[in-house]
Amino acid sequence: MPNDRRPENMVRITTPELADAFIEEQLQALRDQIGDKKVLLALSGGVDSSVVAAMLIKAIGDRLVCVHVNHGLLRKGEPEQVIEVFRNQMKANLIYVDATDRFLDKLAGVTDPETKRKIIGGEFIEVFAEEARKLDGIEFLAQGTIWPDILESEAGIKAHHNAGGLPEDMKFELVEPVRILFKDEVRIVGERLGLPANMVYRQPFPGPGLGVRCPGAITRDRLEAVRESDAILREEFAKNGLEGKVWQYFTVVPDFKSTGIKNGKRTFDWPCIIRAINTTDVMEVTVEHLSDELIDHLVKRITTEVPGINRVLFDYTPKPPATVEYE
Ligand code: XMP
Repeated sequence: MPNDRRPENMVRITTPELADAFIEEQLQALRDQIGDKKVLLALSGGVDSSVVAAMLIKAIGDRLVCVHVNHGLLRKGEPEQVIEVFRNQMKANLIYVDATDRFLDKLAGVTDPETKRKIIGGEFIEVFAEEARKLDGIEFLAQGTIWPDILESEAGIKAHHNAGGLPEDMKFELVEPVRILFKDEVRIVGERLGLPANMVYRQPFPGPGLGVRCPGAITRDRLEAVRESDAILREEFAKNGLEGKVWQYFTVVPDFKSTGIKNGKRTFDWPCIIRAINTTDVMEVTVEHLSDELIDHLVKRITTEVPGINRVLFDYTPKPPATVEYE
């Protein structure tokens, strides 16, 4: 595979010029590797797969086939943005699969966190493999593997199984155009490829998505409350200059109700928990303390705009002892 390992003396890509030079070199390497064949990519809308898509669209146009699986656990506006950016603006060959019902039906009544994660991961591979089987003449599978993935897998910290999971009979040659890059380099390269800043600089988002922020058995109404409150939180962080400054921020809607009052009537609704954290390595995290003004505003908006929420709580727990996500 070309550019298998990051050269010891490789200069860190910190400027547009260095990013442009990397892109030129990679485009040539991709064209040499792929020739006139077709490539398949699972496009989640996350930073790495988006940058890989943008690079391959430049290199081979519509011989890249992108599959975006909406598992119903994405944040508000995410599938729409993937379609807008890749299909409408970049003219990508994009297959959009709305598998929401399939995932939520499988998850119905499942309370155990690890079982939930397994169902989401397993179903994702199944949907992706089904789409892949419908296509003819695909020889390559593109992946957003980045250099820290390789280093961590070599150090035994985490299994590097980006490729893993596809059924045995599905054999593809791998295409990994950002394999030798660190995350900050991937972002600059993405910007130079024309991706929107909010896509390239977005906060980390777990694979199981909002599913881990809807603790216990996922129901559509509570999931919607997570999605809507998350959208409000992101909007307010952006307005208040916190986007890109705070490492990660999100809402969780736990599965219990408490008494409240709205328009003179008793309510019995869920609380919404706000978590905002900072970290460098995600092993240890500290809590971002928000201004009283912002807290008051968030409480007001979330309790008035999100159906099913009558209380807002703040999670002031660092990691350890708490993890970032709730499941
Ligand atoms: P925890 O909860 O382990 O989270 O303290 C640390 C960081 O990892 C993210 N996270 C995930 N990312 N797939 C991912 O791609 C996952 O299953 C997953 N679980 C947690 C989490 O959002 C945080 O940034």
